[in-house]
Amino acid sequence: MPILEVKNLKKCFDKTDILKGISFDLEKGQTLSILGSSGSGKTTLLRCLNFLEKPDAGEIVVNGETIFDRAKPVTEAQIKSNRLHFGMVFQQFNLFPQYTALENVVLAPKLMASADKYPEIIEMGKNLLNKMGLSDRMNNYPHQLSGGQQQRVAIARALAMSPDILCFDEPTSALDPELTGEVLKVIKELAIGNTTMIIVTHEIGFAHDVSDQIIFMDDGVIADRGTPAQVIDNPSNPRTRQFLSNYHS
Ligand SMILES: Nc1ncnc2c1ncn2[C@@H]1O[C@H](COP(=O)(O)OP(=O)(O)OP(=O)(O)O)[C@@H](O)[C@H]1O
Ligand SMILES: [Mg+2]
Repeated sequence: MPILEVKNLKKCFDKTDILKGISFDLEKGQTLSILGSSGSGKTTLLRCLNFLEKPDAGEIVVNGETIFDRAKPVTEAQIKSNRLHFGMVFQQFNLFPQYTALENVVLAPKLMASADKYPEIIEMGKNLLNKMGLSDRMNNYPHQLSGGQQQRVAIARALAMSPDILCFDEPTSALDPELTGEVLKVIKELAIGNTTMIIVTHEIGFAHDVSDQIIFMDDGVIADRGTPAQVIDNPSNPRTRQFLSNYHS
């Protein structure tokens, strides 16, 4: 059974169709990268998965459980709990400036636990920051960290909630090329460790390297979908070929 099934998801803004029926599956432990030109609907798709936008039609199924079906009403409490299936890492890291790296990571899990669990949550937070290569930065505030370090704190923060699926929206677009590498390295390690991930990215070589599956989005539809070898090396769709022409030249 796939960990995620998206069925015929549609979203329009101001009477313009932005997602025109998106369907795909993702298996547990796999990495899916979404490529596509600006405005093709990639961010809107991630926002729909995370209930930051409400789709106009379609279904979202996680671990066999339908968590969104336009035909069935959901309560605010259900939306809150459904959201926990997805971790989000955005282009802008959005760390809380008044909290240290470690405090940023443990804040949400602490809010959901009783005080006797705090020591183990803090231990988990330290372990995650270690994994992100930030063992010497735990007590620094965001303004004391580079962009790449802040983004790695943001990744640890998302992982701290143990999401089923970790989603990234252009995680390195706000970073200098130098800092991009250190963030891609930790995402690659997560892929090797079988973290289930959806990555919206313009880093085509990286997507080829880490992904089990690639989706190419064009104007609100999935124009191409398959393995990196299929979609990136041998794109069948002329739009995908055109999009990738710079990469291949
Ligand atoms: N809240 C909104 N209200 C109205 N239109 C929106 C809204 N959010 C997105 N759109 C429109 O939906 C389209 C798709 O936007 P989206 O951000 O999903 O594209 P994208 O593929 O992520 O692009 P990029 O690569 O530039 O990030 C765009 O035309 C955008 O202007
Ligand atoms: Mg976007």
